[in-house]
Amino acid sequence: MLGNNHALKIASQKKTPKPNNTADSSLYVSRPLLPDLSRLQEYLEQIWASQWVTNNGSLHIELEKRLSNKLKVPTAMLFNNGTIGLMVALKLFDLPSGSDVITTPMTFAATAHSISWNGLKPVFVDVTEDNLTIDPEAVEAAITANTSAILAVHCYGCICDHEALSAIARKHRLKLIYDAAHAFGSTLNGQSIATLGGASVFSFHATKLFNTLEGGLLTSPNAADQETIYLLRNFGIRDEEQVVSVGINGKLNEVQSAIGLLNLELFEDERLKRRALRGRYLEILKGIDGVIVQETPDNVDNSEQYFLVRIDPLVYGKTRDDLKVALEAKKIYARKYFHPICTDYECYREYPIISVRERPYVEKAKKEVLCLPFHSGVENRHLQIVRDVFRR
Ligand SMILES: Cc1ncc(COP(=O)(O)O)c(C=O)c1O
Repeated sequence: MLGNNHALKIASQKKTPKPNNTADSSLYVSRPLLPDLSRLQEYLEQIWASQWVTNNGSLHIELEKRLSNKLKVPTAMLFNNGTIGLMVALKLFDLPSGSDVITTPMTFAATAHSISWNGLKPVFVDVTEDNLTIDPEAVEAAITANTSAILAVHCYGCICDHEALSAIARKHRLKLIYDAAHAFGSTLNGQSIATLGGASVFSFHATKLFNTLEGGLLTSPNAADQETIYLLRNFGIRDEEQVVSVGINGKLNEVQSAIGLLNLELFEDERLKRRALRGRYLEILKGIDGVIVQETPDNVDNSEQYFLVRIDPLVYGKTRDDLKVALEAKKIYARKYFHPICTDYECYREYPIISVRERPYVEKAKKEVLCLPFHSGVENRHLQIVRDVFRR
């Protein structure tokens, strides 16, 4: 069903009015990181006093500056959500109308939709067995004279094979853009992933570790892109007299910028807690036949956005769906990210998945993936239940 991953995420949040610290509470896959209300109140008073609530206000400018420093990237521009950020990233490169953009089906709907909304055609290719990001060999196999760009996704915070993808992009003169919605704060070989490729887009949706409730960020290694992105984000308005391009409204307001400034202070602490939780999950689940856990490679600093397991039913003896139901019986709500994949949606059902294998690996992987609750609200008693359910 179209877009249901997002709907499910939102549904899971709506069902989380109370913290997970009571004996009978349910545990959901994500929990929004929220700042202290009294700190937010201080900012609200400042915004109300200034009467400047949106349109490049001082908090918006301050947050962009801090994000540019944190991610060590010259161009870091806020958006009202990651989807609009992706649409603008594709517009930035002025890709020929109707041209092909190679992407992965193992992602959230926004990746493929941002291509289609730009009048471009998504071409879906297989993923690697290793970390379920786009397979560079399949990318190369999919390139035709009509290809203009690659939109790769650091899915679950697993970092794409940038070396291979950038070599392919150079060789075939393609633009390389990253959907980095899951990878805020990640580095590869010590380099901020916000600087990779021609542009990267982060989501600051409430389900993301660093969030502004809704929001996004478009980064580029080129300072010269700032003016074009600014115009694209603001209806193409240069000044009171001139509208110079076909822009959109991608602006973030001052209240959400304030939440961003406050959450930036909380980000590293929450990330460390999740890193410790990843360690605990690995202790509990490693060594169970048929349960594949995602380990972080030595050259990657993990964003700690998701904790993914894959269940091979032939080895484990039960399916991913069996495990999900068994966890739900204990009020632990894991999620099948990403299942369905984009090529299962009605609008992309006729699109093939190009692979260098006999059968696309992603068709197998989609039935095996399960994201477990991953936030600082997960307690030892929850881990005990997860352990018991998986080992039964
Ligand atoms: C991989 C991926 N890309 C893009 C988006 C879209 O971001 P947003 O919800 O901020 O529009 C998401 C959102 O979850 C995502 O998971």
